[in-house]
Formats: sequence, C-alpha cells, structure tokens
Amino acid sequence: MKPTTLPVKARAHTNIALVKYWGKKDEDLIIPQNSSLSLTLDQFYTDTAVQFRDELAADQITFNGRTLTGDAQRKISRFLNVVRDLAGITEFASVETTNHVPTAAGLASSASGFAALAGAASRAAGLQLAPRDLSRLARRGSGSATRSIFGGFAAWQMGHNDEDSYGYPIAENVNWDIAVVAVVLTTAAKKISSRQGMRAAVKTSPYYPAWVQTATQDFETVRKAINDKDFETLGHVSEENAMRMHALNLSADPSFTYFNADTLRAMAIITDLRAAGYPCYFTIDAGPNIKVLCQKLAVEKVVSSLQSAFGEDAVLVVHPGPGLTFITD
Ligand code: PMV
Repeated sequence: MKPTTLPVKARAHTNIALVKYWGKKDEDLIIPQNSSLSLTLDQFYTDTAVQFRDELAADQITFNGRTLTGDAQRKISRFLNVVRDLAGITEFASVETTNHVPTAAGLASSASGFAALAGAASRAAGLQLAPRDLSRLARRGSGSATRSIFGGFAAWQMGHNDEDSYGYPIAENVNWDIAVVAVVLTTAAKKISSRQGMRAAVKTSPYYPAWVQTATQDFETVRKAINDKDFETLGHVSEENAMRMHALNLSADPSFTYFNADTLRAMAIITDLRAAGYPCYFTIDAGPNIKVLCQKLAVEKVVSSLQSAFGEDAVLVVHPGPGLTFITD
C-alpha cells in the first residue's frame, strides 16, 4: 500500500451499551465473553486526522491540542502498528484528535476515539476497508469502539477470533421515539479502568458464568425489542443488564464498584419517576455517571428532576447518532 499524501480526517460518535461488554476471552485481540449491543449518540464525537509521513522519526500524537507522551502515546502507537502491518508500510504518523465530548460530560471517549482513528489511519495508510473490517480494526483499540463504526442501534458479535469478532448495524436509522438523558455526577478520572475491572470480574466473581448466560439472553431480547419498537422491554432489560454487570464488580474479590452516593440517588430518582408513570430507565457504564433512556413524554420531567438534584449543567439530552464518516475540509 501507499500512504496518502494528505491527512485523512474521520469522525465517529460515542455509544452507550444497552447490553454491556464486560470481560474478555482474549486480552490481546480483545475478543469478548459475550456479544453486546448499543446506541450511538449524536452529540458526543471525536474528529481525528492522520497522515503517515516519511520524515517522521516517531508517531506524533496530539489530543485536544496537547502532545501525548508515555502510556497514552504508546497505546495509540501500538494501534498504529496494527494498521502499518495491515497495509505493509513502515512510516510513522502524525495524529491530531479533537474530542467533542463536552469536557464536563464525563462520558467514555475511547469508543468514538478508536473508531475515528481506525477510519482515518486505515485510509491514510492506503487501505479501503469495508465497515465490518473497520469495526474489527477499531476493536483492537477498544472493545466498545467496534460498535461506534455504525450509527443508531449497533451490535458487536463476540466471535472467537480476529476474523469473526466484529460490529454490525441493527437499525442505523432510529425512526422511533427514544432519547438519552446523560447526567454528569463527576468528571474525575475513574480509579479502576474498564480493562482492570473486567479482568477482576472474569477472574474472581462467582457470578461470572451467570452473567455470560443472562447477557446472551438479554442480547436476543433487546434485539427483538428494537425490531418491535418496544420501548418498555428495551428499557427494562437494558437497566437490568447494567445492574448485573455492576453486580459482578460488587461480587469480585476484592469487591469494588463504580457507583458513588450520587449514582444511587440518581437511580432512585429514575425508579420513582417510572413508578409515577414516566417511561424512563437508567444504564451505567464503567463510571459513576448515569444515562437515562426515555421517551419524549418523560424527557422534560426526567431533566427537571435530575437538574434539581444535581444542578442545571449536569444534565444533557442527546439522541441517536450516525456512524463513522470521513470529513473533507
Ligand atoms: O471498550 P472499553 O474498554 O471502554 O469497555 C467498555 C465497557 C462498558 O462501557 C462498561 C460496556 C460497553 O459495552 O461499552
């Protein structure tokens, strides 16, 4: 392959998992223990420009204008090595990444980050990968990035090896009533990375085999609910799936949790609103912040209730978003 002479720029959006990925079968290739399913979101995205250049003596990576060093730099360089191997090139790259996840959003950016990087780096290396192969490549950076290649509802088939562990769209155009209210309870970096957390859960939670079993059922139920536009089943099963994922962490040895006191308060607010007839369900990733799946008629009430508890700026309303795109300036 021949690298492009101009930088290639790609944009990918973050996603929220409804059926979570929590545990790997292969740590190196990032092959998960269960298939997962998510909704790509419209307002949180990453733009990344990549160019492989002869004159560089090392990869040069900037993130929101700052040059990366140490572990963060090595992680991206390792990913670029996968791209270089695939394309049969040796040039180092300049990588410029801008995150459009509101800095205070406290939402994971590794999904949008590695999906955008997979798109930009592969094209800049001269490769023309089909979406499935882009998702396999994104997977090598971060599991959740596998799904961010696609818009709307997307899945990651666990598979067993590099070839058959990939993402695919379930419904790219979400033409039904669904919104996500994101609540930012803290912007502090988490103490336990998702890699460490899932490793501990797989190794030490006695409930891990039950997780794999129920997550597999949840995947089928949520997929059918999407097909049937059945919001209640989708919300109910997503919330339950999130709680079971977090139960793995509570039942690990040593026990740990991503929840803080505000997470529990926010959960109680949503449970009460639901009991009062508002269609809303929460889900939580590897951090204390919560996201609420809502239908239109609940959005206003969910937003005002969460704002009175956590402040106006803590609450954002987002909607289903698109998959990977290439940007020409
Ligand atoms: O892809 P990672 O390493 O950021 O792990 C993602 C883990 C969860 O967000 C908790 C679940 C998921 O499927 O996205």
